[in-house]
Amino acid sequence: MKFNSLRSLRLLVLLPWLLAGQGWFLGAAQNRPVPNEQLASKDLNARVEALLEKMTLEEKIGQLVQYSAGYATGPNASNLKYDELVARGQVSSFLNVVGAEATNHYQHIAMEKSRLHIPLLFGQDVIHGHRTTFPVPLALAASWDPSAAEFVAHYGAVEARADGLAWVFSPMVDIARDPRWGRIIESSGEDPYLGSAMARAWVKGYQQDDLSRPDSVAVSVKHFAAYGAAVAGRDYNATDMSELTLRQVYLKPYHAAVDAGAATLMSSFNSINGIPATANPFTLTQILRREWGFDGFVVSDWGAVSELINHSIGDGPTVALKALEAGVDMDMEGNLYGTVIAGQVRSGKIPESVVDEAVRRVLRVKFALGLFEHPYTAEGPAYDATPDRRAAARRVADETLVLLKNDPVEGVGALLPLTAKAKKVALIGPLADNQRELLGAWAVTGDPKYVVTLRTALQERLGDRLLYAQGCDLLTGEDASIVKRVDFDRPMAADDHSPVPDDARTIAEAVDTSKKADVVILALGEPANWMEGEAASRATLGFTGVQEQLLEAVAATRKPIILVVLAGRPLELTWAAAHVPAIVEAWSPGIEAGHAVADVLFGDVNPSGKLPSSFPRSVGQEPLYYAQLPTGRPAAHLDLSHFPQNPQEKFVSRYMDEENSALFPFGWGLSYTRFSYAQPTISRAEVPAQEVIASAGKPVVKVGVDVRNTGSVAGTEVVQFYIRNTAASVEQPVRELKGFARVTLAPGEQKHVEFPLGFDELNFYNVDLKRTVEPTIYKIWVGGSSLAKAETSLRVVE
Ligand code: BGC
Repeated sequence: MKFNSLRSLRLLVLLPWLLAGQGWFLGAAQNRPVPNEQLASKDLNARVEALLEKMTLEEKIGQLVQYSAGYATGPNASNLKYDELVARGQVSSFLNVVGAEATNHYQHIAMEKSRLHIPLLFGQDVIHGHRTTFPVPLALAASWDPSAAEFVAHYGAVEARADGLAWVFSPMVDIARDPRWGRIIESSGEDPYLGSAMARAWVKGYQQDDLSRPDSVAVSVKHFAAYGAAVAGRDYNATDMSELTLRQVYLKPYHAAVDAGAATLMSSFNSINGIPATANPFTLTQILRREWGFDGFVVSDWGAVSELINHSIGDGPTVALKALEAGVDMDMEGNLYGTVIAGQVRSGKIPESVVDEAVRRVLRVKFALGLFEHPYTAEGPAYDATPDRRAAARRVADETLVLLKNDPVEGVGALLPLTAKAKKVALIGPLADNQRELLGAWAVTGDPKYVVTLRTALQERLGDRLLYAQGCDLLTGEDASIVKRVDFDRPMAADDHSPVPDDARTIAEAVDTSKKADVVILALGEPANWMEGEAASRATLGFTGVQEQLLEAVAATRKPIILVVLAGRPLELTWAAAHVPAIVEAWSPGIEAGHAVADVLFGDVNPSGKLPSSFPRSVGQEPLYYAQLPTGRPAAHLDLSHFPQNPQEKFVSRYMDEENSALFPFGWGLSYTRFSYAQPTISRAEVPAQEVIASAGKPVVKVGVDVRNTGSVAGTEVVQFYIRNTAASVEQPVRELKGFARVTLAPGEQKHVEFPLGFDELNFYNVDLKRTVEPTIYKIWVGGSSLAKAETSLRVVE
């Protein structure tokens, strides 16, 4: 525990404000954890204090202001005289200014013309790589390989830093349990354990535990908090949940990211239980700073401070004050802090010490990043997707594909992997040869021209044995015109006269092409750049446009079909799952899309991905996730709602017109080999609750399992470890992931995998919102998905 004298001094300065209703702060503060030693360092804080002393109120407030001086990634971008503002010290940071030339332009003004020469901090959305585009974050979560996320983050950091950016608006660690929400693509899916593991890895990859390195960038963990739980999956909508669920599920990955040393966080657009997240002292101060010890700064999301007016909690000056007091240190593109806070301070509505504290937080990060010593960026060579970059993108993408289904076809056997079996292959679908959409949503600095499409990659392997037909567009008729109108990237004029697609003709052509082939590969999904990511919620989850008709028409030829799904959210694949023998979920794979898909289709890579999100049978099941709470009226066998329901049962928790279970459950993913699990063993069958509590995170028990590759090719299995607390004072989910391991096995090989169990895995929040462990029996399962059957148990006694 480090507690330096400067901090004590600050507390004294803040005392009058704290005592005005916040007196309990002191005790908690003295026991704060220190997640980022650099930001807490004495020397660094001494530099901050020395600078702060020299600053005027206007200059201080300037450090709390960020503008977008490049392209817009949100509505109503301001268009101010940035050169003048920077020269006056009234801008702290820019977003969407990228490249050595553009960043140096403003940096020279800040360093040479502003009175105190405080460097600007340039930030941008680096979501799945910067120039080199990797698979989208949801796909990365499907690798269940945190080292892959760490690698992608570090790759992005190196490229971002070379472009003058020392700050990335990543990772997004929002738990996403509803695929109607388009931003599920930026998430690690539905589970807090997997999400926390990925969150730590992203932070580590970007920051490398040392912000001062020239190839490190500061993260902005977003969107704090619970943004992913927007009611009805509609982006920006309110979030309403118990504090228990907030802490037990939604806050976990943010906390993991803070513990990993995250330098900044971004406040979210939504409200949480009636209080907007951007003016929420409970999450931003009580939890983030007092409980978690966060020492970095919080930036608002784009315009979120001024949008507090729409949340109806006050006029401009009032909401700016509420946001700042709650703990939002920097106003992103809201243009409010810079215009109204000085007046609020001068009229005594807010003590200057609150401004000072926010300024300290921002300056700490600037110092830690070494910006004062190295403010400029050297002009580098123009970007190119060189072979080594391609190799990196391909290696990562190879790990992210999930084999959902590979049933044998009569007379042919399993369609995958494709070998010499297929003389002629028909590739059909609007995503087979679409560079822009394969790149994925939120590839801000990625360039579609580098994408190797499926058509190109299959052509390389098959030459003239490959036939191709697009089949249809991603959108059609009415939906195309609606979506085109809202495309912020390329707005479509109201009098757009682009030809209405002739779906009947193009589908007929695709059917003809299919008939000439031995096997058909269908590449279907949804338009990533129109219907995924921010402000891209959907009320339906099927393939867009007439793709489903295309699928059904091609299926009617009775040719064997391999369906490759390309989408950044779980789609409703119900008809396909019933009629198509082989399905691969390929997400949005980035620049090496085609090669990665071909690697898996041809068996050069044995698929090892597992779903980070449940795939629904029907959109009406959403939000659908495996870690449900129990009900008093479970449907038969509904311990874990993945088993068929008994159609006779009426008064149970079920749908009359649909199964409860997922079509493809969380953790699901097949391989070209098979894995078997032995009976798990446990090092102790019984353990006292007090011993678990006192173990302070150290394991008290180990669960072991032998996993064997029983097939004929090498493969990697993601071994998953689930528990259920069967008798707690507060309801606990029917299953919870508490461990996983990627294990590579040669044919016939067996490995012993061990999972530790201690307070970290067994605790839960009780009714007093205290993390605890009570006497109970934990059921324990190990296996290759959330349906894992190999079972043991642990008894926790008084
Ligand atoms: C998004 C953030 C993003 C920011 C800056 C907002 O609209 O919600 O995720 O980082 O814009 O581009």
